[in-house]
Amino acid sequence: MASEDYQRARGTRDVLAPESWQFEALRRIALTWAMRFGYDLIETPIFEKSPVFLKVGEFTDIVQHESYRFIDAGGDDLTLRPEGTAAVARAYIQNGLAQAPQPVRLCYVGPMFRRENPQAGRYRQHTQFGAELYGSESPLADAEVMLLAVQVVDAAGLRNPTVRVNSIGCEVCRPRYREALIQYFESKREGLCKDCQVRLTQNPLRLLDCKVDTDIKAGAPDVADYWCDDCRAHIDGVMETVHDAGVEIRRDRNLVRGLDYYTRTVFEVGHPSLGDGVALFGGGRYDGLTARMGGASVPAVGFGMGLERLLSALPEPLKDEQPQRLYVAHLPGFEDKAYGLAMTLRRRGMAADADILSRSLKAQLKDAGRRAGWVLIVGGTEWENNAVAVRNLAKGTQEVVTLDQLFQYLDHELREADL
Ligand code: HAM
Repeated sequence: MASEDYQRARGTRDVLAPESWQFEALRRIALTWAMRFGYDLIETPIFEKSPVFLKVGEFTDIVQHESYRFIDAGGDDLTLRPEGTAAVARAYIQNGLAQAPQPVRLCYVGPMFRRENPQAGRYRQHTQFGAELYGSESPLADAEVMLLAVQVVDAAGLRNPTVRVNSIGCEVCRPRYREALIQYFESKREGLCKDCQVRLTQNPLRLLDCKVDTDIKAGAPDVADYWCDDCRAHIDGVMETVHDAGVEIRRDRNLVRGLDYYTRTVFEVGHPSLGDGVALFGGGRYDGLTARMGGASVPAVGFGMGLERLLSALPEPLKDEQPQRLYVAHLPGFEDKAYGLAMTLRRRGMAADADILSRSLKAQLKDAGRRAGWVLIVGGTEWENNAVAVRNLAKGTQEVVTLDQLFQYLDHELREADL
């Protein structure tokens, strides 16, 4: 057993096969759907200058307690990205995408880092698939990102996600709501949990998110009574579009989300198999973010989806994308020839293994049984006659095939097996 020094850092994971291939399959599903919806793939650095992420909100957990922030040897103040939205907003501004024809649709897949308390479905490094849509104020934009995310969940084989949405209002109507909330919760201050007493001064909307003070928050004012006409029309439009696309959606008056950049629409999607408070994906509208970062004011909306969580919630493994494998075994003295043939097969687009441990034919056949569907045997009289023996391990049959015909033969066999 390795010493403590050489164990994984807390809250991180090694992902080995076959789960690693499941991950890759999920990533492919996500990107295929993003492409169908017209999203371009963007990759931003895994670390940014710290002020970029401070824009997700000074009083958020992500910034206050969970960031992997460090000063590098050159004195730069950097942070491992805890989420993608602020990084993509920085890239949108810096690469002049505000001047490109709008809307601009961007998506990403990659690791995010948050020093959270590790528990089921909560890691210190997780992988997010996210999409950000810039340049449209329309409720159709909010609906579009939600529909893309729901589509990915559905394509992965998970049915009946619970889609919750709310509007936290805009700069016109939210201040009045905020005041009403403060007034209400101030009157109950004594009964609030410690965290909420702090939130009350820093970020009163977050009290609605509290898992402890459920009785108190049940009597809190509803933001719907404070929406301005534009905010009301907006959320109605979002819900109608999502509903018309055949996705069940309901309003949750307590949904506020943990990041500060949101305005109007916020949404969160879970699944009964994950339990309460564990979201498959979440997101919302954040029209003010680019302006807060010194860019033009551009409306934007997006989501982030935890791929570990989605994978853990799937009722069945994703279709295995592994190709059928061939194993090129050799008789003594034909190791190089076998390796050469495996290399040629790979160049022809086939998945081929060859022995590199100088094993006996018997040991090679045993190895082949573990990892391949066919064995090609190089050597002996067959080889003298420019041929190899091809054994189909599933069927237990064997044929001698000349090298001229080998690729055509294997191509046919592999295709038959795929049907
Ligand atoms: P978020 O809700 O903080 O939003 O994270 C998005 C998703 O990432 C969550 O719903 C969850 O599936 C996954 N996730 C978050 N933290 C963890 C963790 N510690 N372990 C495992 N999975 C996790 C955002 O990050 C926003 N940037 C979403 C967004 C995009 N809003 C607008 N555009």
